[in-house]
Amino acid sequence: MDFERFDAPQATDDQWREVHAHEVQSMEYDWPELASPTLDAMVNRLRESTTTDCTNTLWLAREHGKIVASASYTVHHDDADHTVRIAFITVHVHPERRRLGIGTAFLRLLLAEARRHGKDRISVSGVRRGTSAEAWTVRLGFEPSSRTLLQRLVMADADLALWDLPTPAGYRVVSWGVAVPEEFLSRYCRYLATCWGSPHDWFAPQAVREREAQGLAEGCDRLVVAVVHEADGEIVATKAAEIKHGADIVARPGPTSLVLGHRDQGLERMLEAEVLRRLAAERPDVAEVVEKDQAFYLPEELAAYRCMTQVIADLGYRTEEYLRVEAGVEQLSTALGSSRPD
Ligand SMILES: CC(C)(COP(=O)(O)OP(=O)(O)OC[C@H]1O[C@@H](n2cnc3c(N)ncnc32)[C@H](O)[C@@H]1OP(=O)(O)O)[C@@H](O)C(=O)NCCC(=O)NCCS
Repeated sequence: MDFERFDAPQATDDQWREVHAHEVQSMEYDWPELASPTLDAMVNRLRESTTTDCTNTLWLAREHGKIVASASYTVHHDDADHTVRIAFITVHVHPERRRLGIGTAFLRLLLAEARRHGKDRISVSGVRRGTSAEAWTVRLGFEPSSRTLLQRLVMADADLALWDLPTPAGYRVVSWGVAVPEEFLSRYCRYLATCWGSPHDWFAPQAVREREAQGLAEGCDRLVVAVVHEADGEIVATKAAEIKHGADIVARPGPTSLVLGHRDQGLERMLEAEVLRRLAAERPDVAEVVEKDQAFYLPEELAAYRCMTQVIADLGYRTEEYLRVEAGVEQLSTALGSSRPD
């Protein structure tokens, strides 16, 4: 097997197409539910992944001239003074060439690189629970450093009946896009000030309008769903979904912010469903909704969070768990016998 560093600045169109075909094949096998990146998106991502702060190198492994594996290797330059210096890697072996030691051989090469760069640890992110990647990293002695939950819902496959939750009595729901309608502006400003602290210039109508104008100029797209308390007309809860335009249009709802005194009324659960209902009705261009990709550093934190993920799962979201795993460079080198191929 031959290893080579992919020369992104000098690569020809044919070389980019070959790397893209390998990436698409791996994606379709390991993440069939995700849209594979277009050639342009992949080229841009790889070109932009090296910045003044970090260097990203794409390595390729070939057998008889054909790509059988690829690995991304990233080092940050600004961590020289840190107690722990980390190299970040991902490895993808061709689906038909797995369990033949190729991933482990690649790791040996990346370990040698990490030692050459004076790194203490190797970190692998995006390791999906229950997959070959988890089995591989566990076998090699990596340990989880954080866990991320991701919940996704493909709109075309959704069961709309699951979202049919009534609005609790005494409340009504309104929605808007990037700009809050004039009739709700002052109430929205009071709501922001209540949720985020005492009244402040940041929550003044003019400041809100300026931020909206800036967002619109930057191409921001969003759906905001708000709950109005009918007795006094005040806004008491909101949930905003940022809408990202890529190969597919994906909505990313943020957390629900609820005013004290309106908790335990079922508003949070209803808002989760209402965002989906309004996206389906008003934004049929949204293909997927992705929620809650926050990191947990202790297993207990994740366990405590599980009841919240169940609320969302009940609306049809599929829950995925991803691990970031780490291991010491010396420990791995000793276990594997690090060597740098010619
Ligand atoms: C994870 C991955 C890189 C492993 O590459 P590989 O070349 O198949 O792994 P190796 O042959 O070096 O495996 C070494 C050991 O890891 C463990 N292992 C690897 N895949 C496994 C699987 N599917 N099930 C159980 N154990 C597995 C085994 O202990 C294996 O030894 P064995 O075959 O003698 O039992 C590969 O499966 C892959 O590309 N997965 C998808 C991409 C991915 O998720 N990458 C993110 C993580 S970097």
